[in-house]
Amino acid sequence: MKAKRGIGSAPVRGRRVLVRVDFNVPLDGRGGVADDRRIVEALPTLNHLRAAGARTILLTHLGRPGGVRDPRYSLRPVAHRLSAILGQPVPLADDAVGIQAIELSVRLGNGEFLLLENLRFHAGEETNDPGFAGQLSRLGELFVEEAFGTVHRAHASTVGIPQHLPSFAGLLVEREIRELSRLVDAPERPYAVVVGGAKVADKLPLLASLVGRADSLLIGGALAFPFLAAQGARLGATPIEPGLERAVDELLARAGSSRTQVVLPSDLVVERPAGEAPSVHPTDALPADAVARDIGPATREKFARALAGSKTVFWNGPLGLAEDPRFAGGTRDVIGQLAGIPGFHVAAGGDTARVAADLGVATVFQFISTGGGASLEFVEGAELPGLAVLPDA
Ligand code: 3PG
Repeated sequence: MKAKRGIGSAPVRGRRVLVRVDFNVPLDGRGGVADDRRIVEALPTLNHLRAAGARTILLTHLGRPGGVRDPRYSLRPVAHRLSAILGQPVPLADDAVGIQAIELSVRLGNGEFLLLENLRFHAGEETNDPGFAGQLSRLGELFVEEAFGTVHRAHASTVGIPQHLPSFAGLLVEREIRELSRLVDAPERPYAVVVGGAKVADKLPLLASLVGRADSLLIGGALAFPFLAAQGARLGATPIEPGLERAVDELLARAGSSRTQVVLPSDLVVERPAGEAPSVHPTDALPADAVARDIGPATREKFARALAGSKTVFWNGPLGLAEDPRFAGGTRDVIGQLAGIPGFHVAAGGDTARVAADLGVATVFQFISTGGGASLEFVEGAELPGLAVLPDA
């Protein structure tokens, strides 16, 4: 993908700059932020704007409050954490639009910040209502898109505002485009993709788009179950997402006549009724009461063999129920094997990054995308509305 016009060329001194960030961070339920990675990732852009004397107005959503004001989704914890990280107060406007937001924004001095309350307290954000986009736009003079995790959404703050204001890509968005493009434009081969996790229906389009483009697709986690079932495996009491049979059959048939080798588990770690320790079984012979939770040792070897020699690896999602230490072994082992394979390794989405960090192997990946759904759609080759609307460099 072509580079977008970047923030480096934006004349920001003394100007009110609207910056769409993705501060959709997990909260700890005690008024704090549980994981501030997404705030920290935006710091280079925020520091650049501060040093350049911009008057920065930050816009973000938090969760899915559904277009109504809901205090559980207030950005107050984010404002606190951001103030601490930046070392200067960041006031929070009670509402993203209206008199108070206008007053606070015009009072900003050079190098100061204002955070607007959750955009999704307004239904017009997700419907890209022109009136709401217009109100937001009037708060600033320039727009910076820094919310890579949200560029797959055609919302007022991602595609509406750029209709009104000169728009630029923030440093994080520029970097995401640069790094993820290496997976799409001409990946160094062999190109292997490892996909796991639980959002089976969401990830099937990614797998389908990679047939013919990737050299191998390694499928683990709950994502593997419908594929194994399609091949006749008996998975005991393992829940399998229904309604995907046709899509899975088609994908396997297309892969069979393409360059792409699909690699599926051959054994699984299962959980049995209470009291029994997890056990390992071949995928064609799980006991009737067994629920699959992780890939087994033979599969870990098989995956490591399939990855050996790869020059490019894209990894999305854990290979088992990795938040439970009893079922993190498959993900840990295969990421560990990847550490010994030179090449360009990219992880996508908070879950994968968290697992890698928890396992102490985050450096296996040269790039960790901040986007979950957005990076999947990017790698699928889909047009992302929040990027399409920005001028090319
Ligand atoms: C994310 O967490 O992936 C982004 O913030 C987008 O959130 P959404 O899926 O609620 O639009």
